[in-house]
Formats: sequence, C-alpha cells, structure tokens
Amino acid sequence: MLTKLLNSFSKRLIWLITGTVLPMSFAFAAGPNLQLESANNNVRDVESLQRGAVHFANYCMACHSTKYMRYIRIARDLGWQDEEVIDKMTYGLALPVDDVITRIQEGVSQQVFGTEAPDLSLMARLKGTDYVYSFIRGYFEEEEGKWNNHVLAGTSMPNVLEGVKRHSTTEEYDQTTRDIANFLEYVAEPYKVKRWDLGWKVILFLLLLLILTYLLKKEYWRDIKH
Ligand code: HEC
Repeated sequence: MLTKLLNSFSKRLIWLITGTVLPMSFAFAAGPNLQLESANNNVRDVESLQRGAVHFANYCMACHSTKYMRYIRIARDLGWQDEEVIDKMTYGLALPVDDVITRIQEGVSQQVFGTEAPDLSLMARLKGTDYVYSFIRGYFEEEEGKWNNHVLAGTSMPNVLEGVKRHSTTEEYDQTTRDIANFLEYVAEPYKVKRWDLGWKVILFLLLLLILTYLLKKEYWRDIKH
C-alpha cells in the first residue's frame, strides 16, 4: 500500500518536474534572442587585467563606479604597488584604501542621461562577461551622428569607445574591449582564480579521504559476520 502510494507520488513528482521546471529552465537559458560576441577573455592574464583597469579608469569611471572594490585590492591582485594603482587609475587623486567610485557628481547622470549609470561591480556576474563585451562594442550609427546599440536598444549610454575604434586597428580595438570585459569579470569575482586553484585540491583531498574511510570500514567489519 505504502509503496504503491509512494510510487504514484514519485511519478507525479517526475511529471511535475519535466512539465514545469525543465521548460522553464530552457526558457531562461535561451533568454531574449540575442547574439552575443564571445569575449574570449582570460582572468588569469594579469597583463590584460592591468590594461583593462587603466582603460576602465579612462573610459568608464567618468560615469561608472565599481564601489565594492578598493584600489588596494586591485593593486594586490594585479601585482601593482599601492602608489602605482593610484597613479594609473586616478592620477594620484585617491587613497589606496578608497573604494573605486565614479568621477561623476551625484544626480548629474540622471539629469544628462535620464538614468543613473549603474555600478559595475557585479555587472559581469549579473549579465555575463560576453554581454558586457558585446554591449560596449554593440553601437551602430542609426542616422548620421545618432547611435543605437544592438545589445541594449535605445540605451542612454553614449558610444564612449567611438574614438578608440576610429583610431585603432581591429586587433587593438578587440584587445581594448576584451581587456575591459576581462577586468570587469575579475572585479565581479576577485576570488575566482583562487577558487579554481583550490577546488581541485579539495576534491583530491576528499577522494583520498574516501579511500581511507573505505579501508577503515573494511578493517572494522573484518571479524564481524554480517
Ligand atoms: C558618459 C557616461 C558613461 C560612460 C563614460 C560609460 N557609461 Fe556605461 N552606462 C551609462 C549609462 C547612463 C548607463 C545606463 C544605460 C541605460 O540604462 O540605458 C550605462 C550602462 C552600462 C551598462 C549596463 C547595460 C545594461 O544592460 O543595463 C554597462 C555594462 C556599461 N554601462 C558599461 C560601460 C563600460 C564598460 C564603460 C567604459 C568603456 C562605460 N559603460 C562608460 C553611462 C556611461
């Protein structure tokens, strides 16, 4: 009786899962019909992160912050001295312990662009590194002097990399945008590389522990009839 009940219950559960959760996850995975470019970035590439930090300071910090990050942390992770990070990212205008805040004054973004430029600390995690990469490269000239964006249609963010694109080769432009996306991926999860490096050691340790506990179990039960 009980097994029968359980059986029909688990069948229903399986139907419920296949009927609701699965289609939902497909729908989320597919997302809006967006073709994103692949950033092909590498958060282990410290030189790319260093370039990305400087580009971010030059091209993005006028409007955006990454306020959950401090300069001193960037210096430690990217192999810079404290003074170096301050020079390269703020022209000496901040302290190493300061958060990476934007240079725009409060309320100005709202006035000029009709919206706040969002904090970018977690943007790469929220929308994906490929999204950030594609968004900053996604501008096209709708009419003369009027830009729109493939990734976020009608965005109020100006095409800030227009000059960079015009004055550099395709390779340089690709590298600049990749470095910026790479830096934002690092900022969104500074521990990522350390977690990767630690992860396999933990798994290895657990596997060894499994073998030991198995041998121990055999030893304990050796003389007991069961
Ligand atoms: C002149 C000001 C300004 C500069 C400079 C600027 N942005 Fe923006 N950014 C904005 C504004 C305003 C928004 C909000 C756009 C919207 O909601 O339409 C925005 C939004 C974004 C978003 C979020 C898009 C989304 O899907 O919601 C990302 C990512 C972004 N910016 C990245 C950058 C990067 C990277 C740089 C540097 C290369 C940069 N921005 C430089 C003003 C700026």
